[in-house]
Amino acid sequence: MTFPVGASATIEELEADPHPLLARLRVAEPVSWIPVLDGWLITRHDLALRVLRDAATFTVDDPRFSTAQVVGTSMLSLDGAAHTRHRDAFARRFRPAETRARFTEFVRSEVDRLVGGVAAGGHAEVRADLAGPLAVAVVTEALGLRGVTAATVRSWYDAFVAAVSAITAGRPANATDAYDRLRTKVEEALGERAPDDPSLLASAARQLTTDEVVANAAVLMFGGIDTTEGMITNAVLHLLEDPDRLALVHREPALIAAAVEESARLEPAAAVVDRYATEDVTLGEARVAKGDLVRVSIAAANRDPAVFADPDRYDLRRADVDRHLSFARGPHFCFGAHLARMETATVLQALGRLPGLRLARPASPRGLVFRKPPALQVVWEVVP
Ligand code: HEM
Repeated sequence: MTFPVGASATIEELEADPHPLLARLRVAEPVSWIPVLDGWLITRHDLALRVLRDAATFTVDDPRFSTAQVVGTSMLSLDGAAHTRHRDAFARRFRPAETRARFTEFVRSEVDRLVGGVAAGGHAEVRADLAGPLAVAVVTEALGLRGVTAATVRSWYDAFVAAVSAITAGRPANATDAYDRLRTKVEEALGERAPDDPSLLASAARQLTTDEVVANAAVLMFGGIDTTEGMITNAVLHLLEDPDRLALVHREPALIAAAVEESARLEPAAAVVDRYATEDVTLGEARVAKGDLVRVSIAAANRDPAVFADPDRYDLRRADVDRHLSFARGPHFCFGAHLARMETATVLQALGRLPGLRLARPASPRGLVFRKPPALQVVWEVVP
């Protein structure tokens, strides 16, 4: 079989504005071999769902998975019963009601603090001044490690990401220093007894070893930092691209939730997730061989016209927006989704406090996996 559209793809095209290419692939080669990715790319919504739901055939459990090489075995790199054991130890603390109870006040006060810090200046860079610090503060709060500040969590996370990037590029690397520090803090936390209201990590330790708790604590950083920073930044960009949209959501606050979802659909912060075929399998019209890398393009599935009418249009009244795959589906469905939505909605609400808010210059998302504008400069009127 030949895949001429896939063969023509370049990394620059996939990183900059991949949507026209993804649309061509979806029509001509919905399961396409992409030489520059050294794997298959799935661009149709139904095929993406099939891969995400069938962990027996399309697994995350493969030694090539670079995150697992840095943080060890965790829910992100397991499938089957072992995955359930790791995931359940954490996921139940992120259910909607518990997320609301534990985080609503914290998120509101962090957003107030961050917006309050820039309000008098009349300008901000949304990623570095608001979205990034909020995402790190929330993950720090969720981990609940005594004496560990957001700056420390950021530095550990940066070390993990640097190591994962180096390994992905074929260079040997590790993040032993950061990992040892995280481990020491987790051990301290597990040594404390708080039977009435155990912390997230202490409750996870009831069914996981300390090594497993440490690996999954690092995975919460992978799950919750770059992704949420991107989700918030993209949502602000989408609202400000058209001044009518901002006015509309502030007139009709019920539309804030729609603004969060529609932005996540159009530009998912995690645009691609990876699986490995456990056997030879026919997918669409393609024959995927055992061991092949299968990359699901969430960005492409989210614009499949078979599911979303006029899919490139930003539509705050889209009835079926919740069919987007931005938080994946199947066994690895993101359990931080409720928290990430809360963070994004709280930021969008707070923007109402900055009169005349607008883009200082045009921006657009970039990135192969994590997509967001490199910077998002905004300005507003300062009322004396
Ligand atoms: C506080 C914020 C977040 C936390 C704590 C979090 C946590 C996690 C965790 C632990 C997983 C792994 C679940 C498993 O393997 O069973 C996961 C998966 C995932 N998350 Fe999140 N996440 C957050 C925000 C986000 C955001 C903003 C996005 C994108 C819009 C996102 C997209 C995903 C996707 C696509 C997966 C599936 C990965 C895969 O199937 O390979 N997450 N998340």
